[in-house]
Order: sequence, then C-alpha cells, then structure tokens
Amino acid sequence: MVDTSDAWITERTGIRARHIAAPEQATSDLAYEASLRALADAQTQPEELDLIIVATETPDYKYPSTACLLQARLGAKNAACFDLSAGCSGFVYGLGIGSQSIVTGLYKKILIVGAETLSRITDWTDRNTCVLFGDGAGAAVLGQVEKGYGILSLDMGADGTGGRHLIQPGGGSRNPATHATVDAHDHTIHMDGQDVFKFAARKMPAACKKVLEKVGMTIDDIALLVPHQANMRIIDNAISRLKIDRNKVWINIDKHGNMSAACIPVCLTEARQAGKLKKGDNVIMVAFGAGLTWAGALVKWAK
Ligand code: ACO
Repeated sequence: MVDTSDAWITERTGIRARHIAAPEQATSDLAYEASLRALADAQTQPEELDLIIVATETPDYKYPSTACLLQARLGAKNAACFDLSAGCSGFVYGLGIGSQSIVTGLYKKILIVGAETLSRITDWTDRNTCVLFGDGAGAAVLGQVEKGYGILSLDMGADGTGGRHLIQPGGGSRNPATHATVDAHDHTIHMDGQDVFKFAARKMPAACKKVLEKVGMTIDDIALLVPHQANMRIIDNAISRLKIDRNKVWINIDKHGNMSAACIPVCLTEARQAGKLKKGDNVIMVAFGAGLTWAGALVKWAK
C-alpha cells in the first residue's frame, strides 16, 4: 500500500504483527469480549458494577458512549457509564480516577476497559502512521482490597500545548464532516512522530520516578513495569533511563503494535497468564498519548 519494508518497520518500531478487527466488529464488540473475561476472572456479576469507564479514541459513535453500549449488552443496569478520552493514557487515567471512587467509598465495583479499533481511523496511504497501530481490548474489575494493597501512587498529567502533534482533525465541531474533510483524510490519525517520540522519551521515565518517589521506593522494589507499547525504541529508552532489569518489563509490541488505550490491560492479562504477577508485587503501569497526556500508576498487586 505504501513505500515501506518489513525491515524498516521492525528496526524502527519493533512491531512484527498486529490484529485488525473484522469489518463487522466495532470497539464495543471488542470491549464486550474483554469485559466478559474480566468479570468471570473477578467472579463479579454485571449487576454488581457501579461504574463502567471505557477508555477509547475510537468509540462506536460520538454518542451514545461506548460505555453505555457496553452496559446494555452486559446487563450492568446499576452502573453509571462514560467514555474517557486521554489517548493511550486512557486506561491508566481510568484506573487512577476509578480507584479513588473506591477509596472514598462512593463505589464498590468498577469496570475499566481500554478498547480500540484504530484500523478504522488509520490513513492507509500515510506510511508515517499506518504501520504502527492495531486493534484490541483489555478490561479490569476494580474492587476493595486489603489495606496497603492496590494503588499506592499516581502521576497523571497533560501538556495541551502539544495537542496538535497527535490529532484526528475532522468530524468535531471545529471541522465538521464534509466531502472535503473526507477527501483530505481529516478523519484519520495525524501525527508528528518525532515530537510525540521526544515527549514520550521524557515523560515515561519521569512518571515512573514520580510514582516511586511519592512512596519512598526505588526501581529495585518493582517486580514488573508495564509500559505503553508505541515504539520499542521508546521502551528501550525508558529501560536505560530507569536502569531496570529488562526481564522485569512486559513487552508485546512485536505481537500487537500500538493498540492505544488497550495496550496496558492486554499487557497485564498476558503477564498474569505468564505467572508474572503475584500478590504483593509492586507494578508500575505507565503510558503517554494524545492530548498530549501521560499517566503512571504504582500498584501493589492484591490478588
Ligand atoms: N517506512 C519507511 N520509511 C518511513 C516510514 C515507513 N513506514 N515512516 C517514515 N519513514 C521515513 C520518513 O519519511 C523519513 O524519511 P526522510 O528522512 O526521507 O524524510 C525517515 O523514515 C525517518 O523518519 P522519522 O520520522 O525520523 O522516523 P522515526 O525514527 O522518528 O520513526 C516513528 C517514526 C516510528 C513514527 C517514531 O517517530 C515514533 O514511534 N514516534 C512516536 C509515535 C507514538 O508513540 N505515537 C503515539 C500514538 S498514541 C495515540 O494516542 C494513538
């Protein structure tokens, strides 16, 4: 489709494969499958959910929210619902905000989903972006845990002055859909790769250091680092800046590409299945994305 090569993609990004949703699958379909598995794993009935947050940049519709579509399909009739737009940081943002609703006692059970069909907003004629993104979904059920477990510290932030570096410019109130916007590919991802790269190279290690500092830990206290999977070179940069053992970093970019908000929960699922997450382990999740946003969470694994 474009002038590229397998060698360029693997060397410059680390991506070897990714998954693309079938034509009849929308984001809520992927979210639904992930949610069923998370609910079964957490032995939670849909009616027990107090809140559903879907982190996504590719909702089924502008409205109703994908979270509402998911609620109806799950039969989670007691849950409040909203979608969260924080780019690839969305799942960690959701985790951060959701967990506070549990700490305050407002809610008992929350479903957080990261789900994307980025293939639907990919410009397949733009080699700068079309080699990067994949579709997928992951979900987690948050609930009350023993004292000392769960979220230990958070670092969430944004630099809105960088918003133009990663944007889907068409279809909103600034630039409503017209024939001209479609012809100009304004409904697809526009990205200044190098600017986003520099932001990520700076912010991912900084957020990790912040969440550690807040609780007086060092990187040696960490059992697993789960970074956003955008580019292997960004992950390598974080590994060397943080001086963390590579075996403690979960990497799946080679298998999935960048699934935006879905990356972190899919990594967590894989890490758990591989036996890499045990009760009491300190885990850092860290992401960056459109906004530009970043988010880090330090969690003491409770299960
Ligand atoms: N195949 C071959 N050549 C390519 C390709 C490709 N797929 N893409 C770009 N190139 C070319 C460029 O045109 C350029 O050629 P030129 O020197 O003749 O102009 C050359 O490769 C180098 O381009 P750079 O942009 O310098 O390449 P870089 O090493 O920066 O890699 C990349 C580009 C992979 C996009 C990188 O910048 C990156 O990963 N950035 C971060 C992206 C990111 O994290 N995005 C987050 C999105 S998250 C969300 O919220 C959806």
